[in-house]
This record gives sequence, structure tokens and C-alpha cells, in this order.
Amino acid sequence: KKKLKDEIYEVNRLAALFYHKYLYSKFGQAALKYLYDRGIDDITIKRFGLGLSPANGLELFNYLKRRNYSIEVLLKAGLVLKGSSGSYYDRFKNRVMFPIIDEKNNVIGFGGRVMDDVKPKYLNTPETVVFKKGKTLYGINYAKKSKEDMLIIVEGYMDAIALYQSGLDNVVASLGTALTIEQGRLIKKYKNTVVISYDADEAGIEATMRGLNLLDELDLNVNILTVPNGKDPDEFVRKEGFDAFKKLLQKTDTLIEYKIKKYKKDLDLEKPSDRIKYIKKVCKDLATLKDEVKRDVYISIVSKDAEIPENTIRAEIDQFVKGFL
Ligand code: CTP
Ligand code: MN
Ligand code: MN
Ligand code: MN
Ligand code: MN
Repeated sequence: KKKLKDEIYEVNRLAALFYHKYLYSKFGQAALKYLYDRGIDDITIKRFGLGLSPANGLELFNYLKRRNYSIEVLLKAGLVLKGSSGSYYDRFKNRVMFPIIDEKNNVIGFGGRVMDDVKPKYLNTPETVVFKKGKTLYGINYAKKSKEDMLIIVEGYMDAIALYQSGLDNVVASLGTALTIEQGRLIKKYKNTVVISYDADEAGIEATMRGLNLLDELDLNVNILTVPNGKDPDEFVRKEGFDAFKKLLQKTDTLIEYKIKKYKKDLDLEKPSDRIKYIKKVCKDLATLKDEVKRDVYISIVSKDAEIPENTIRAEIDQFVKGFL
């Protein structure tokens, strides 16, 4: 008898193929237009196995039932739900479907996007025995094979897909903004350097701050790419072009640079109390920096910003360094 996990991989793969074919059927015209309007071409649709779930909420269930899969497996895969009347129906209805593939090329789950402004915008497979959202990186199946020793982390499906279509092959999406330690470890298995490129909105900035500390603790080299004008990477490449994105990639901030900028933005250095906060925060960060040259460069910057002598900053940093021993 097959293991439950393997059965789920199997039905998920069949479901992905089903959704993909449905997208190219006569029922898929609006969805296809939706993707084309967002700049996604057929090659990319195929590469990511994008699809469409039927609107009536019965077709996938019937299709998989005809192939003799048990209802139990379909429920446990998260593809099917049991209604109050005791009948079964498809979880994903009339959504553009994004199959989620793990590092071993298994289809572990799906994201489904509405084509209008209905909420929720994205519906994902719930936690199953094969799908743990917090352990998953969308696109890892491709990114792990990239020659680059660097990985770009974006928030969403469309960000990852748009960047791949532009020509990058080392992008993953964290499926939202809450990067986890497990996702960090998955990156660390394959790469040493990461570039966080989250949405330039409040949620994205907060998540960048949390994410970079987490990744730094795993001893990854962390850089931050800031997309200008409140856009996300998908919107940015579509409007500004790939060369503009590559330029942003050339001028990412290191962890320390990013933090210094953030503190300066959040604090008013004209105010003494804020200036003190600024110095304390930066000194704590600089204490973790082992490279003396780098540390000296930042000390001179902070000294000018906060208008206090370099030696005072050095003494403050030393306190933190001692505190770690
Ligand atoms: N997400 C989710 N459920 C939601 C909203 C978001 O799972 N209700 C996840 C999705 O993986 C989504 C990512 O978080 O791709 C980023 O969300 P957001 O920035 O809001 O959406 P976009 O990816 O920009 O969506 P789109 O461009 O399709 O509007
Ligand atoms: Mn977002
Ligand atoms: Mn480190
Ligand atoms: Mn977007
Ligand atoms: Mn976004």
C-alpha cells in the first residue's frame, strides 16, 4: 500500500495538470487574459504550471474520484472539502492556481488567486502532512539549481514569477511576510548570500527587519534591496524594466547599512533623546560586526550623524562586546 504522503503528491500533481489544462480550455479565456494582462507569457505559465480552478466547485473532485482516489486522500491533500449537507466540493473555485513545488519536485500544495478584488485575495492549501507553509519557499525547485550563490527572497508568487520571466533564476517567495527559521535553514542548504526584496510597504519593511535578523543568525550574508515608490518587485520590473531592477541589485544595503537607514528614518536626530536612542541602537549592531575596517567606517558615519566623538562610540560598542562574553 502506498504511503499517504506519496498519494497526496500524486493527487496534487494530477490536480496541477488538471488546472493547467483547464486554463487552456475554452473556460479559461478570462483567466488567461488576466495572466497576459499581468505580463505573464505562455512559457512562464508552463514553467510554473499555472492553472485555473473551475468555478462550479465539483469538477476536480469528480475527475479525481473517477480515477479511484479515495475521498480521504483528497480531503487530506486539502483539495476537497466536505459541505454541511455531507456532499464534497473543491476547495479552490474560479481562482488562478499556483502549484507549490518543494526542493524534491513534489507538488505539495497550491495558492489560488481571485481575478477580481474579492477577499481573500489568495487562498492557500491548509497545513497538511506534506504542506507546511512556514517551511516552504515558492520557487526553491528552480532556485536551488541556479549557479548563483545568492538567493533573492520576495513576498509573493507574482514577484517570483515576474523576476524569473525577466531572466533571474535564483528567486524564492516566502509566501507572505513572516519568514521563519525553517525557511532560513532551507536557504542555507543551498546558498550563502540572500537579498531580501520585500514589498516597499509597512508590512514589508517590518518583515524585512525581522527576516534579516533571523537570516543573519543563521550566518547567511544578508543584503536588502529596497524597491522604490511603494511598489513590489513584480510591479517594479513591469513598469521600470529589468535593467532598472538589476541596478537595484547592484546597490543593495548590507544589514548594518539598512538598519542605520531605518533608525534614521524612525528617529529625529535633532532631538537629544532620539539621538541617544540612535547611538545605542547602532552601537549594539556594530558590536556584532567583526571586521574592524567596516566597523571603523560606520563609527565615523555615526559620529558625524550624532555629533559625538568617535571614542565615545567606541567605548559604547566595547560595553556591548563585553556583554556578550
Ligand atoms: N498571501 C496569502 N494570502 C493572502 C494574501 C497574501 O497567502 N490573503 C501571500 C501570497 O503568497 C502572496 C504574498 O503573501 O503572493 C504577498 O502578498 P501581497 O503582497 O499582498 O500580494 P501580491 O503577491 O503582491 O499579490 P498580487 O500581486 O497578485 O496582487
Ligand atoms: Mn505585500
Ligand atoms: Mn553573522
Ligand atoms: Mn503584487
Ligand atoms: Mn505584493
